[in-house]
Amino acid sequence: MKGGYDHFMQKEIHEQPESVLQTMRGRVKFERSSSETDRYRERRIKLGGLTEWLDTIRTGRRIIFVGCGTSYHACLAARQTVEELVEVPVALELASDLLDRRAPIFRDDTCVFVSQSGETADTLQALEYAKSRGALCVGLTNTVGSSIARATHCGVHVNAGCEVGVASTKAYTSQVVAVTMVALALSEDSIAKRDARDAVIDSLGALPGALRRALALDPELARLAGRLAGETSLLLFGRGYNYATALEGALKVKEVALMHSEGLLAGEMKHGPLALVDESLPVIVLATRDAMHAKMLSVIAQLRARRARLIVVACEGDAEVEEACGVDCLQPIVNVVPLQLLAYHLTLLRGHNVDQPRNLAKSVTVS
Ligand code: F6R
Repeated sequence: MKGGYDHFMQKEIHEQPESVLQTMRGRVKFERSSSETDRYRERRIKLGGLTEWLDTIRTGRRIIFVGCGTSYHACLAARQTVEELVEVPVALELASDLLDRRAPIFRDDTCVFVSQSGETADTLQALEYAKSRGALCVGLTNTVGSSIARATHCGVHVNAGCEVGVASTKAYTSQVVAVTMVALALSEDSIAKRDARDAVIDSLGALPGALRRALALDPELARLAGRLAGETSLLLFGRGYNYATALEGALKVKEVALMHSEGLLAGEMKHGPLALVDESLPVIVLATRDAMHAKMLSVIAQLRARRARLIVVACEGDAEVEEACGVDCLQPIVNVVPLQLLAYHLTLLRGHNVDQPRNLAKSVTVS
């Protein structure tokens, strides 16, 4: 069952080059046609469950993504891609908060419910609420026949394969890919977005290779975990697409390694968190080559000036590897891998249960 691995979480982290491919299989055509007309037609994304709803979504008032925990982070990671390709206002909601506020939802809204299990009580209740307000409800789940899959008007199966470890890993990366595919499908008729779509599709094709290269860092992450295992706290800074990576990395560390960790928006650093920084607190900074790179270099300089214990996640220096990082919007999928590996190794070293963290369940069916 664990296929030669010691733990399900470890197996599922290492399965990601295949699981993202599985999510895209039969849906994304990676080859480019030499003819302009064919290229336009062939590079459509096939999401059978959504085809007849695409126009309604495109012409709607807003797209509201709803989820909990890691699934919410996946929505955050892909939000900008939807904004850039589709140009419909995007909102994000934590399911519990949406319910607490009884937030306004309108008949011409599209609500996308993202859930690995498809059974999370808060997400399911938020779905019933959105339905009662007349919104179009789309399900994005990893479990065929789940309650959310059944209760939504239409949807996309994430197809990451069964995830057993309580900490979600491969479902997260596949959820980001799935939302990206939805954005590509929604923008398929836009001539203005054609080049941007092509770049995203090309990078999706390169994703399994990029994930394999990130997984090859495993021994280095095990060594880093050795240096951090005795700490009580960890900060992670990211911005842009990698804000979600910082939140998700921190969530992995706290839920399995039982170490306090906080993911922070680097743009907010000077508005409070900087006070925590000294020579003892480890700080991870996500500074891979994307549109935020220059700003992240400035964050690093400011942290250095305060003698922070810095750990920087960056692309390797050569041009080839930088290119292999792909378009900015897919970097969170690759960048989260070292953080998943770090959380895994920290957990082993701290002597905790990797696959069944205390107090947590795989499906949270009570709110
Ligand atoms: C964290 C984790 C949880 C879930 C959350 C939502 O690793 O797994 O945060 O993401 O409970 O679960 P689903 O996606 O099943 O709705």
